[in-house]
Amino acid sequence: MVVHGIGALCTCDPLRGDAPGIVRDAALVARDGVILYAGPESGLDRSGVPRDALEIHARGAAVVPGFVDSHTHIVWLGDRGEEYAQRASGATYEEIAAAGGGIRATVRATAAGTVEELATAGRERARRMLANGTTTVEVKSGYGLEHEAEMRLLDAAGGLRRWADIPDVLVTYLPLHAVPDGLRDVFVDDVCTRGVAGAAKRATFVDAFCETGAYTVAECERLFTAARTHRLRPKIHAEQLSNSGGALLAARAGAVSADHLEHATNTDLEALSSAGVVGVILPGASLVLGGPPPPGRRLLEAGCTVAVATDCNPGTCYSESMPLMISLAVALGGLTPAQALVAATAGGAAALGLADRGILRAGLRCDAVILETPSWIDVAYHLGGDIVARVILEGRLEVPSKT
Ligand code: NIG
Ligand code: FE
Repeated sequence: MVVHGIGALCTCDPLRGDAPGIVRDAALVARDGVILYAGPESGLDRSGVPRDALEIHARGAAVVPGFVDSHTHIVWLGDRGEEYAQRASGATYEEIAAAGGGIRATVRATAAGTVEELATAGRERARRMLANGTTTVEVKSGYGLEHEAEMRLLDAAGGLRRWADIPDVLVTYLPLHAVPDGLRDVFVDDVCTRGVAGAAKRATFVDAFCETGAYTVAECERLFTAARTHRLRPKIHAEQLSNSGGALLAARAGAVSADHLEHATNTDLEALSSAGVVGVILPGASLVLGGPPPPGRRLLEAGCTVAVATDCNPGTCYSESMPLMISLAVALGGLTPAQALVAATAGGAAALGLADRGILRAGLRCDAVILETPSWIDVAYHLGGDIVARVILEGRLEVPSKT
């Protein structure tokens, strides 16, 4: 496959200079899903390109790496539109959760679903993600709240991989999300034994909601310790609604990422930076919950790698759109458009421990988005704009042009 006529190729490659590493008048060539060439069209050796290669003309548009959405909860059933309306009338997320709504409402609607029903619901959302330029998505469990239901959610998430018309999927086991009725210690024991053993063959990461009203630092730490023996790398929902100690735990536990962080102090962020933990901002959830802003700029100032993700879920952010999150990372999180684009691509890959994508460079996966516009800044600037023209997923054209 050859894409030529690219007005601005945003490689997001730090080796190409200032973010987002732009090459003007560029071409992109891939074979078997891997980039062979990403650079000036004038430097392309056409003799190496087979005659039957798929030729795509970008007509001067900008091209960016496929977005890596490193934090989502897309496998759920049910609908929490009523809660969203109640929150708009003054009820808080915590009040609704304390009254048995929130995550537990989704658990009631989701827990009984078959693997097929769950996967089908996830697939619809994943397809919308691909149409919005996402080529890799992380998918969490978390709406099971008991062992068998959580394993079904993991199977549904992993089962999404059978469909070619959605992003590449990585699975995360999130057993400590809402708190069940009954004995909490018994539940945590079960998760730390049967749970992590069952998740080992189904997931890459383990996650926990460390928060007042959810799980304590000690409970999350127990989970991470148990998970490590099964090679599940920790991620954490930290400092979302209050400062609860999750960021310092992430640093101590060598988590791959710490996510949310609205209530994190600068000391917390410096600890993440020293430990090499990626900070994931979820500006859609910050916007919907109305608390402190996502700490995009503060993370960069602390020296952290930053990722931006959708958090797509039925409670705090029902959105599949990475371009919208890039806009919000700029408008709310204090990132520049270039920093936000890098956070949505190379940053997302870092938050998933993936070294083979997120940058347009020879030898890496060919996941790319051809924009509708010659100006890459439109990704951030055109709020809610329909800016994705075509999506290339592992060297295949998956979203053909709308025009
Ligand atoms: O990332 N904070 C916890 N989990 C989700 C919300 C899940 C829900 O409300 O269903 C989040 O915001
Ligand atoms: Fe989340």
